[in-house]
Parts: sequence; structure tokens; C-alpha cells
Amino acid sequence: MVSCTVNQSDIDAAKKILKQHNQEHILKYADELNQAELSKLIAQINDIDWSFNDQSGNKRHDIGIVEPMDAHPLNAIKNNYEEYRTLGIEAIKAGKLCLLLLAGGQGTRLGYDKPKGSFNMGINKDLFIFQLLIEHTLDIIRMTDTWIHLYIMTSDINYKDTTAFFKEHNYFGYNSDYIHFFVQELNPTTDLEGKILMSTKSTISMSPNGNGGWFSSMNKAGLLDDIFNSNLEWINVFAVDNVLQRIADPVFLGATISNNKMCGAKVIRKNAPDEKVGAICLENGKPHIIEYYELSNKMKNQTNPDGSLAYGFGVILNYLFPIHRLKETLNTKMPLHIVNKAIPHIDENGHLVNPDSPNGLKYETLALDLIHEMDDCLVFEVDRSREFAPVKNKTGVDSVDSAREMLINNGYNL
Ligand code: UTP
Repeated sequence: MVSCTVNQSDIDAAKKILKQHNQEHILKYADELNQAELSKLIAQINDIDWSFNDQSGNKRHDIGIVEPMDAHPLNAIKNNYEEYRTLGIEAIKAGKLCLLLLAGGQGTRLGYDKPKGSFNMGINKDLFIFQLLIEHTLDIIRMTDTWIHLYIMTSDINYKDTTAFFKEHNYFGYNSDYIHFFVQELNPTTDLEGKILMSTKSTISMSPNGNGGWFSSMNKAGLLDDIFNSNLEWINVFAVDNVLQRIADPVFLGATISNNKMCGAKVIRKNAPDEKVGAICLENGKPHIIEYYELSNKMKNQTNPDGSLAYGFGVILNYLFPIHRLKETLNTKMPLHIVNKAIPHIDENGHLVNPDSPNGLKYETLALDLIHEMDDCLVFEVDRSREFAPVKNKTGVDSVDSAREMLINNGYNL
């Protein structure tokens, strides 16, 4: 059994770290804690990556020259459909593709305290988000008669529930030898002044460090050696919450290969100039995703000669990345995104506060910034009515309700 006794020297060392980072309030209640609580808190202090708020990788303060980027539109994809599909199927059969499901988020907007993938989209029967994603993938497994390695990133917070959920449902028919879970890192949350928040007197409030660190988390989890020593060339990265997206899509893969592009991004045509999706563009000649709030009004409304929006293609968090290039990005410092969120915490009197509106900051890197590390990108248009049903909110836009409606429109029996 691990001893919970805390030495004065451990406390002094922790105090020194906190002083260095101007966060001494973290040990404010140390005298009230028992040995086990204090030991846990000191372990948390020692585990924190204190560069969590280091913005030196942040290129977002000085965005370069932004220009529209052409997409490979639906009609061009349709014209080459058979060629792309055949190429993609060949690559999958040759074991060149693996998948990464980003499932480490907290789904705060949905207000569901379990892993988002375990949310039940069914009305008269069970139809969980994870189940839908697995069933989409099984379509391709059957088509190619090839099992595809599926990596699933969770956070420390939802790892246990996620793995148990898959096990309980017998992996929804997927071959469990091909499913690999790993855990992403957490960062402390802070108030608006940068002071770390506490969720209890003995626990620092932590949250997942964003979806951008997945490749370095895979590295830390020791998964990359096997990947580098295999035939794998491509990784299809996708979010947990788009219940209609096509995963391991051979047409997308074949199109990226056939067009000799370094990576691929599935996009939808925006439904309005101010739709809240990141738009694909060029920045200093390289593929880039500009967040909706970074687009000026002029850029939002800028049109092409045919009247379509110049920044009219929104990303849906479904990308193809080349593994050899990712390897080279391992030491690249990703830009830091500091996000305003409502974060439960204890106040200065030690009372728990559950704010309704943003009161603090989370520190994240984002998968979309990896696109900028690529020399070029196939901007692959998909039909939004068939491939874009995000579950972000409980009701309204991008919600359980809207996604259910889209599933029904696509022939799903809920
Ligand atoms: P979102 O940006 O929608 O974040 O994640 P979220 O945490 O799920 O939801 P909110 O903002 O709290 O409501 C987009 C995708 O990235 C994953 C999510 O699981 C989802 O698939 N993600 C997000 C991670 O894997 N790790 C993270 O740290 C954040």
C-alpha cells in the first residue's frame, strides 16, 4: 500500500513551485486536510505541466495573409467517384489507414456528465453515439473485409466510463483487438486573472488540454512505435459528436491520394455567412482554419464571381493526416487557445459555486491547427444533409433535437 504520510519537505517543495508560479492560494486549506487529501493535492501540484499557459506557440496573434482556398466540390468528387473509391479501398485493404476518435472532451454544452459517446440518440430504442460511429465504421470493414485499428482518446476524467461502456456493449460488434484506448493530458483551469481554480479544498480543478495534443498523447501512451513499424500511412481523425459523419471513407482517402495532397479535410458549405464553424482558407499560402470569430464582416460576406461565399467551406473535424508528416510535428509547439467557460469551483470562503456563465479559462490546443503544419490539403466537400449532424447542445442549433431530425431524414429508425 502506498503511504499517504506527507513530509514537511514535500510541503516545502510544493510551496516553492507554487510561489514560482504565483499560485500560493492552492495550499490555503492545507491545515484542514487529512494526510491522504494533502498527499493527493501535492501529487497534483507536482504533476502539473506548468507551461500550460505558455503562449509562445501562439501564432494566432499575428495571422498572416489570409486568402480563400478552393475546395474539391461535390460535382468533381461525383465525376471521379469510382476511381477514388477503388483507390481508397485498395489502401484500406493494404492496411494503410487507421482511425482516431477524439473522445476526451467534457461536453459541457450538452450538460451530460458521462462520456458524450454514451449519450442515447434513440427514442424508442437504444442508439448510442458510440454505437452509431462504430456502425458507420463497420460498413467499411464489411466493404473491405479488413479490420481497421481504431484509437480512442479519452481524458482521465472519462476513461473509466468510456472503456466500461464499450466493454458492457461488447464493442458494438467491433473486433476489440483493434480498439486501443489512450488518455490525453489535463490542464488546470483558472479564473479570469489566471489564478488556478480549486474544485474542492484539496483538489485543483483540471480539464482536458484540448483535442490538438492527440499525437503527442499517443506518443506518451507508447502507441507510436507500433504505428511506425506497420504499413500504416494515414490516420483519419474525427470528433465524437457528429453522428452522421462517414468514417474511414474510402472516397475521401482515395481522393486525397489521387490528388497528391498531403492531408485532407472534410468540409461543408456554410449555410450562412456567420455560421459558427471554422472556415478553411490559406494563410501565407498554407492551409489554415480560421475560426468564425476571427473572420471580419467583410470576409464573412466576401463572394466569388459565381456568388458563393469566398470563405464558405466549414470544417467538420474529420481529417486525414499522413503519419510520416505527423512524426515531424511532434516537437512543434501548438498554438494555445484560451477559452472562456463556466467552471465549477470553490470561492474564497471554500463554498462550491456552480456558475451559469463563463467565469474562468481553460487552456487548450486544437486539432485544426495541425492542418497549418501541412504543406497542402484536399478540401473535400461533403453534403451537409447527409454527413453533418453535430450534437453540441441540448436543444436548438447543433443539438440532440436537430441531430435526431437529421438521423430520421437519413432513414434511421430511432
Ligand atoms: P468540442 O470542442 O465540442 O468540446 O470537442 P467538448 O469538450 O466535447 O464540448 P464542450 O465545448 O465542453 O461543450 C470537439 C471534439 O474534440 C474532442 C471532443 O470529445 C469532441 O470529439 N475533445 C475536445 C477532446 O478529445 N479533447 C479535448 O480536450 C477537447
